[in-house]
Amino acid sequence: MFRDITPAPPDAILGLTEAWKNDPNPSKINLGAGVFKDAKGRTPILESVKDAEAHILSTASTKSYMPIAGAPEYRRLVQEMILGADHPILAANRAQTAHTPGGTAALRVGADFLKKFASNAAVWVSSPTWANHKGVFQAAGFAVKEYPYYDPVSKGLALDKMLAALDSVPAGDIVLLHACCHNPTGVDLTAGQWAEVATLAARRGWMPFLDFAYQGYGDGLQEDRAGLLALASACPELLVASSFSKNFGLYQDRTGALTLIAADAAQAAAAFSHVEIAVRVNYSNPPAHGGLIVSTILSDPARRAKWEGELTAMREHIARTRRTFVDALAHHGVPGDFEFIARQKGMFSFSGLTDPQVRYLREKKSIYIVGGGRINVAGITPGNLEYLCCSIREALEASSG
Ligand SMILES: Cc1ncc(COP(=O)(O)O)c(C=O)c1O
Repeated sequence: MFRDITPAPPDAILGLTEAWKNDPNPSKINLGAGVFKDAKGRTPILESVKDAEAHILSTASTKSYMPIAGAPEYRRLVQEMILGADHPILAANRAQTAHTPGGTAALRVGADFLKKFASNAAVWVSSPTWANHKGVFQAAGFAVKEYPYYDPVSKGLALDKMLAALDSVPAGDIVLLHACCHNPTGVDLTAGQWAEVATLAARRGWMPFLDFAYQGYGDGLQEDRAGLLALASACPELLVASSFSKNFGLYQDRTGALTLIAADAAQAAAAFSHVEIAVRVNYSNPPAHGGLIVSTILSDPARRAKWEGELTAMREHIARTRRTFVDALAHHGVPGDFEFIARQKGMFSFSGLTDPQVRYLREKKSIYIVGGGRINVAGITPGNLEYLCCSIREALEASSG
């Protein structure tokens, strides 16, 4: 059976990190994978997480199985985090949450659930989108279509084209939206634009599926809810995939959640019983550790305040790095207006570098950037800034000459 199998292509993002690890050039820079890095280029464990882990270690008494949907406390805390503790949807029991292994599994479990009841629907993703979105929904059996999102000329949102496309999405189809810190462009919707999208969703009758992988990385935990709150007030039904990989730094602990919102409590409970089946056949029940960390932090005011401080520091570090990068590009004589990089939100920036320039940087300079020109701003440090800017100038000169 295996004799004639040819190798699959390496993963567009994680494959890049592997290539970077194997590169002997001491000046090499990894601007690929979406992982927070501090000024020294490290991805540290948050102090609040270490403290929660110490507490868990000293108090844990069992490694028995988790419930299919995860621990009740975690499920409640996730709902309060994404919607706000006093949101009427929570009081009405219209939300149900499953603890999933990361945001990826939240997307996949949501996709499997939707496939059961919307087998002929298409899933619409932004153009461009996170490299894994198409794969996840295709693996669940969906046809994936694209709606316009990014305008390469203004380096901002292609709002009119996006709204026109979403206005023609058939009722019952599924539209995947990035709640904040759009990956890969860093271009987000304003509150007013979210309201327009939410009105459209309600009028057209398509189902919003919100990917909330970066809550707290945009403008703040509360501010980043704007899209979800607009959709939740306009639409009776939606799905939300949360990831705690970035905002708690729990990348390897695979911690996330799928939240389903329905028109009333009875519909939410019935629909959620099928989400639980999707979990059961995929991985049976979630890994406990990451969820325990999140609950230990969110349920204790002092730990929570410490974590919020650390999250704010990560967000502000990235915003500062954006500014420093734009200024350094100008200082090193890189031609062009890069001010848009300072305006973008979250970890990523659509740099405007073309695929040949990305290739040049990788082959000649050992600078690893995802195809399409997405850079992880957090990978830029005081130690690599000058080499990066000079290399970008060379890449631009090489491609124009
Ligand atoms: C937009 C988006 N969605 C989902 C994920 C998946 O997150 P996780 O690592 O928690 O599975 C990522 C991770 O990079 C992402 O950028």
